[in-house]
Amino acid sequence: MSAPSNLAARGLLNSTIGAKIVMALTGFVLVGFVVQHMVANLQLYAGPDALNSYAAGLKGLGGGSVVWLGRAFLLACLGLHVAAAIKLGNRNRAARPARYAVQRFRQTTYAARFMLLTGFVVLFFIAYHIAHFTVGVVQPESFSVVDAAGRHDVWRMVVAGFRDPLTATLYVIANVAVAVHLSHSVTSMFATLGLSVGRYKPMIERIGPAVALVVLLGNISFPLTVLLGLVHL
Ligand code: HEM
Repeated sequence: MSAPSNLAARGLLNSTIGAKIVMALTGFVLVGFVVQHMVANLQLYAGPDALNSYAAGLKGLGGGSVVWLGRAFLLACLGLHVAAAIKLGNRNRAARPARYAVQRFRQTTYAARFMLLTGFVVLFFIAYHIAHFTVGVVQPESFSVVDAAGRHDVWRMVVAGFRDPLTATLYVIANVAVAVHLSHSVTSMFATLGLSVGRYKPMIERIGPAVALVVLLGNISFPLTVLLGLVHL
């Protein structure tokens, strides 16, 4: 990040509303990626050629530069999202030395704690997932395969990966955490941006759970269909 934009980000993070806006905007980018990623991965069901040519096409865009720009942008969003969460968490604790006595407030605190817990699980999952499918440190034997056209055999890597019940179970659990995180955060993102008002409020309150459910069903279908033998090598 350049010096002025670094200063601007620090300035925003230093006020509660600024940190909330940073969380909402970066969350919007991250949830957009997660939805797009799940939809693109549905090509698993279209067979090796579809998924492998999609992956090769993506990696070849702009001679490879587009994918690196995308990675840098996503990483910056994730970093800012976590930094804003830490700032807001610290500020909430400092402003509330005594425990609430009223149930309504306690519920918001539970939601916030749940967000922190699932947020940590999602962070660990992303690190593990990149080590698995992007770097090939986990299950290296299925990472370094190429298909008949000489492309990285992403389809075989995913199917071989999920044939291991422990790996498949880890993915299912991690994706439940992703869904719990999305369920609350997508709705609160709209509220922060001032869009959860009037007659739109009931709809916005359902958007988070709906997005979370669709992403969950798509994502857990991959390890489950492989484990059930519906998709196989
Ligand atoms: C079971 C569900 C999922 C499957 C099957 C899956 C599959 C994959 C595959 C195959 C790749 C490597 C693509 C390639 O080498 O061309 C990948 C990369 C990645 N996935 Fe997933 N994914 C899943 C869920 C998720 C979730 C929930 C997140 C985020 C919370 C996520 C974040 C990422 C990231 C950040 C990368 C690295 C992209 C890059 O190469 O820069 N994935 N995923």
